[in-house]
Amino acid sequence: MKPSVLLARAVFPEIIEKLSQHFEVEANQDDIIYTPDELADKLRGKAGVLATASARFDAQTIGRAPDLKMVANMAVGYDNIDLAACTARGVMASNTPDVLNETTADFGWALLMATARRVTESEHWLRAGKWSKWSYDCFLGADVHGSTLGILGMGRIGQAIARRSMGFNMRVIYHNRSRLAAEQEREANNASYVSKDELLSTADHVILVLPYSPASHHTIGQAELAMMKPSATLVNLARGGIVDDVALIAALKEKRIAAAGLDVFENEPKFHPDFLTLENVVLTPHIASASEATRKAMAHRAADNLIAGLNGQRPPDLLNPAALPTA
Ligand code: DGY
Repeated sequence: MKPSVLLARAVFPEIIEKLSQHFEVEANQDDIIYTPDELADKLRGKAGVLATASARFDAQTIGRAPDLKMVANMAVGYDNIDLAACTARGVMASNTPDVLNETTADFGWALLMATARRVTESEHWLRAGKWSKWSYDCFLGADVHGSTLGILGMGRIGQAIARRSMGFNMRVIYHNRSRLAAEQEREANNASYVSKDELLSTADHVILVLPYSPASHHTIGQAELAMMKPSATLVNLARGGIVDDVALIAALKEKRIAAAGLDVFENEPKFHPDFLTLENVVLTPHIASASEATRKAMAHRAADNLIAGLNGQRPPDLLNPAALPTA
């Protein structure tokens, strides 16, 4: 008998077909967001689950899924999975690194440009019928070319963003848990390693691409926003919770920074309603990796991990090798 797997969210039909060759598949094409109780119910009898960052696999959920052997996350981030709890129970976990680097970097650039050059704000104004004449000071923004780009979190996506800055003749500064090798810095538009404080006080445009963990919670709060230039922009591509949204709203309202571009929010898909009252913020619904090709690549990669893990092979993107069956 084939092992059973749960698809916790709707996926491309080709993924259901692919997984059905190996498993009994319970799909969720109505895309119901399961409550923790519903998820626990659905996981009963399932050897594996293909999940997204919207489903939490905490110690309680893992503890209520005695048949579970693998959680394959369709995301590079895995802050929704308690890896220690998985490992303690012998549940393998995987993510989908690399396949989304370039697409996410493209989007970081889109948000940066839209934020600095007030693209959505001016479009809303135009759509509202407010454009009656050209004027010298209509939606003045900040230059991107020739400016200083500060990247907080210089992993593979951060480096892909830095490479793109070469065409804009920018100076790149970065801060990361560890400094990159000299060769990597060179390829990342000769990026210079600086302290977090120097980055915040020097950059014209700050992009956040660091992973979320309890240690990175509210990495950008009131004190950090106060270090930024009043003309600076902030882009968050990483995870809600890295920025203190209440502090950011206050800084944007009081024009202590010029503008922000946000693809992620604390408690998303809910978000602080005050964002909607601000003109100097560009808001997008967690779509940085959402090109068709990349989302398909992520889904296939998650499926490949699940197939490997439940067929006795090492999943290519295994996050917790200590959970591998030892026999
Ligand atoms: C990721 O891959 O982590 C993206 O944010 C989608 O969740």
